[in-house]
Order: sequence, then C-alpha cells, then structure tokens
Amino acid sequence: MARAERALSADSAMPEEGIAIRARGVSRLFGTLKAVDDLDLDVPARQIYGFLGPNGSGKSTTIRMLCGLLTPSAGEIRVLGLSIPEQAEALRSRIGYMTQKFSLFEDLSVRENLEFLASVYDMPGKQARQRIDVLLEQYRFQDRQKQLAGTMSGGQKQRLALAAAVIHEPELLFLDEPTSAVDPESRRDFWEKLFELADAGTTLLVSTHYMDEAERCHRIAILDHGALVADGTPAELTGRLAGRTLVVDAAQPRQAARVLSACPGVISVAQIGNSLRVLRADDAGGDALAEALRAAGIAAQVHPQAASLEDVFVAATRSRSATQVEGT
Ligand SMILES: Nc1ncnc2c1ncn2[C@@H]1O[C@H](COP(=O)(O)OP(=O)(O)OP(=O)(O)O)[C@@H](O)[C@H]1O
Ligand SMILES: [Mg+2]
Repeated sequence: MARAERALSADSAMPEEGIAIRARGVSRLFGTLKAVDDLDLDVPARQIYGFLGPNGSGKSTTIRMLCGLLTPSAGEIRVLGLSIPEQAEALRSRIGYMTQKFSLFEDLSVRENLEFLASVYDMPGKQARQRIDVLLEQYRFQDRQKQLAGTMSGGQKQRLALAAAVIHEPELLFLDEPTSAVDPESRRDFWEKLFELADAGTTLLVSTHYMDEAERCHRIAILDHGALVADGTPAELTGRLAGRTLVVDAAQPRQAARVLSACPGVISVAQIGNSLRVLRADDAGGDALAEALRAAGIAAQVHPQAASLEDVFVAATRSRSATQVEGT
C-alpha cells in the first residue's frame, strides 16, 4: 500500500488525540544494515505499550528515533503532536527516557541526583524541593536520601532512575529494558509504579525481554530484524494462535522432541520439565503428531493447550524453516 494511503486509513481508524506516538514508514540504516525497516506504529495515549523482539531487532534504535535522539533514514514520526526530529527540542521537556544502563551519578547521593536533574529541567528551587520530597516518599527513599547512588542494590538503582525520569512529570515515558538484572520481586514493585504512572495519565513505551512483563502491557509490538511482525493486545495475539499450541507428555522426551521437530508444520519444540511444548504453523490439531510418535515407537499423550505470549513471540520471530529443539 502506498505511504499516503496507509496514513489515511490509519487516520480514519484512530483519532489523533488518542494517539501519543505515530510512526509511518520509519527506517534507519547503519551503513548497509537496515536496523529499522519501514515501521508503522500507533501507540495509544495513557497506556503501557510493550516493545518485544530478539537482541538486535531494532527496539533501542526505534526508541531513540521516537525520542528525537537519532534521525530516521526515512519515514514520518509524530510524538505528542510534534514532528520528530524537527521539533525534538519542544518534545524534550514533555518526555522521560530511561535505559537499562544506570545513568545517574554513582558518587552523588539519592537526593543530590534528583536535585541535579531538577536543575537540568530549570525547576525553581521551592518547586524542586517539593517535587523531590514527593518523589522520595512515593519511591520509598526517605531513609536513603543521603546514601550514594552507587552503593544501592540493582533494584533500588532502577527505582531511583525511574523517579529521576519522571521528576519533570513527563506525559510520555520511554523505558528501554528498565528491569534487566532486577530480581522478580523488585520487578513487580517497579511495575506497580508503572501502573500508577499510567493511571495518572502517562503514556509508557517499555521494551522488555520478559514475557511476564509483556503480559502486563495493554498492547505490545514485536519486532524482528527491524520490522514489525505482530502487534495487538496480549489477548488478541494469543487468540490468533488458537489451536496451534500442543503439549506432549512422552516417556522419552528427548527422542520425542526429535521426532516432533521433523513433522511437517512444526515451528518449534521446547522441553519444559518432562513435557514438550509444540508450536505448529496451522491449527491441524495433534493427530498427525501422535501418529508420528506412535510410528517411532514412543508412547505419548498429545493435548491442546492455550497459547502463551512466549508462543506468540516464537511464532512471530522464527522462520518456519528454522525449527529447533530447545531444552530448558
Ligand atoms: N550506532 C550504531 N551503529 C551501527 N549499528 C548500530 C548502531 N546502533 C544499533 N546498531 C545495530 O542495529 C541493530 C539494532 O540494534 P538495537 O540496539 O536497536 O537492537 P535491540 O532490539 O535494542 O537489541 P537488544 O535487545 O539487544 O537491546 C543491531 O544490529 C545493532 O548492531
Ligand atoms: Mg536494546
């Protein structure tokens, strides 16, 4: 479809005021490498939008273009009604950006880091003090105000980085793998904060490799080799895989996995404990798989199973020819 037509049909489907980010035909080349390839994206306002994709699929590159930090090679981007990168300067005070790498000063205290950022955003002294007091309380740092940021745990650092990213109360927050290297309890705590921000009207775009985090998002997009390969709500995406996921309980799971991965239409076979999770390219059911196992002399039971987001991820990012057996 021509670019103008794509933009028009999207316009009629969704009014601009409900959309925080709109990208059309966005690409980014690094030399001959197409890191982002003709991307169309609509991120609804006041929701949590998840960005998934294998390493090197273009998530960070896309986020940097949407923030106005990197110029696209082609395409159009509108963020909060501004044309990016042309109006990136006007956007800066309205967005927050947090990366996986801790970007605060390790040798400044918790409070000093927040004071420094308040000064970067030109917040007047009294307003800055009040805002910092609120953040210290909301993010549970009252007792650690004087602790050097570099001496805190990984989870505490990410919580502080989030407090720092929202000091100027941005309308839109970009979070690029904010919880990598954070334990499950701290990640849950971090996500509580993200939901509080969304409830208060902030739009969040979060990249992650964690499927449990993807499941918490209102909508998600999956990138592969720079291209958008799936998007929708988690329920829509898993619903599209209806009938394609099966669980096989076999006495010899390794041998069974080899037989199953050679069956036509099987995209992946993953061992989970003693069971095998099989993803098919179609919804032809499990009869052919059961028959193949019987023919190989392997006693097994094949059950249909509801699809998970991990199944969606595998189906969207794996070429059908590259079937592999994975152990866990
Ligand atoms: N400044 C750059 N110069 C050259 N190549 C780059 C540059 N930035 C990114 N790339 C390449 O672009 C591709 C996409 O990288 P990107 O960092 O966007 O992936 P990602 O999806 O964020 O991966 P990860 O999950 O590992 O963070 C990769 O092949 C990467 O090597
Ligand atoms: Mg990245």
